[in-house]
Amino acid sequence: MINEKIKKLIEKLESEHKLSVDEFTYILENATDDDREYIRSVAQEISKSKFGNKVYIRGIVEFSNICKNDCYYCGIRKSNNNFERYRLTKEQILDCCEAGYEYNYRTFVLQSGEDLYFNDEVMCDIVSSIRKRFPDCAITLSLGERSKVSYQRLYDAGANRYLLRHETASKELYEKLHPSYMSFENRIKCLYNLKEIGYQVGAGMMIGAPYQTMRNLAEDFVFLCEFKPHMAGMGPFIPHKDTEFRDKKAGTLGLTLLCLSLTRIMLPNVLLPATTALGSINPIGREKGVLAGANVIMPNLSPTEVRKNYLLYDNKICVNDESSQCKNCINARMVKIGYEVEVARGDYKE
Ligand code: 5AD
Ligand code: FES
Repeated sequence: MINEKIKKLIEKLESEHKLSVDEFTYILENATDDDREYIRSVAQEISKSKFGNKVYIRGIVEFSNICKNDCYYCGIRKSNNNFERYRLTKEQILDCCEAGYEYNYRTFVLQSGEDLYFNDEVMCDIVSSIRKRFPDCAITLSLGERSKVSYQRLYDAGANRYLLRHETASKELYEKLHPSYMSFENRIKCLYNLKEIGYQVGAGMMIGAPYQTMRNLAEDFVFLCEFKPHMAGMGPFIPHKDTEFRDKKAGTLGLTLLCLSLTRIMLPNVLLPATTALGSINPIGREKGVLAGANVIMPNLSPTEVRKNYLLYDNKICVNDESSQCKNCINARMVKIGYEVEVARGDYKE
């Protein structure tokens, strides 16, 4: 049985591409399994009509796990001393990209903690070296908060895209998840700065984060609707044993899939990853994500030796794998559900 009110709201979301906080909250609080399956099928139809059965591949290089911040949820937060810190050299980063290039990947994502060693000079040198060596590839950065000048320099050095999850659109919740020296306003400001410069920008949030209510998630949707990111990253919160959220509950598969589907219906063209975190809470989580409207997968290109030290949460998948294994694994997984990987750049299209 499908809840008629939810059906009407989904039709409205599909035609007007927005809903109010109350309307999103109603869906999130009341959707039964049948309603969720209906929403999933609407979202899957939209992604199939926009992207066919193609899933874009972005190779991710986790090049430093050093971070000056202390986000309460994150395993590589500054105050966690129970693991080894590392930085890859420029040559090592280029080697990871080279491996990806050989697999025909044409988007590289460079992600790190907020590591002050990678100042503008160091980071621009890395970006321009990648740009020179792989002129046909998109360079995506995920380095956290920086000044507008810094974002501009990196853009001028050849970066095209930037991932910076807003984490939550609620200032109140933001402050429960971060130490007081981190600022909600600055995070949002960074996102607008990135857009102004001309990056394709990714925002996003964790699903089922500690203290997060359905109304908070509804606020995230309203924010995404206003901000209109080119990419939206959302995966379940998963506790990490060395953080103060170690005993908090993980976000669920069902709620994450519902959020992916609502995002696809609201922002039909958005690039929407089925995240590694989703694959970590369920053996076929990423496949289910794709079937719920996601259209991006980000296989790991980091050297196997460092992967065990880039653990934002417990039970992360692929920690002992080589990048070639991830490539083959993802191909096989997509074929199994009737999809195909698309290694091209896959820029955002209106
Ligand atoms: N569980 C799930 N996602 C997490 N992230 C950080 N810590 C966790 C966790 N414990 C997400 C944040 C960050 C992104 C890189 O990873 O949303 O922006
Ligand atoms: Fe890495 Fe499956 S994606 S092993």
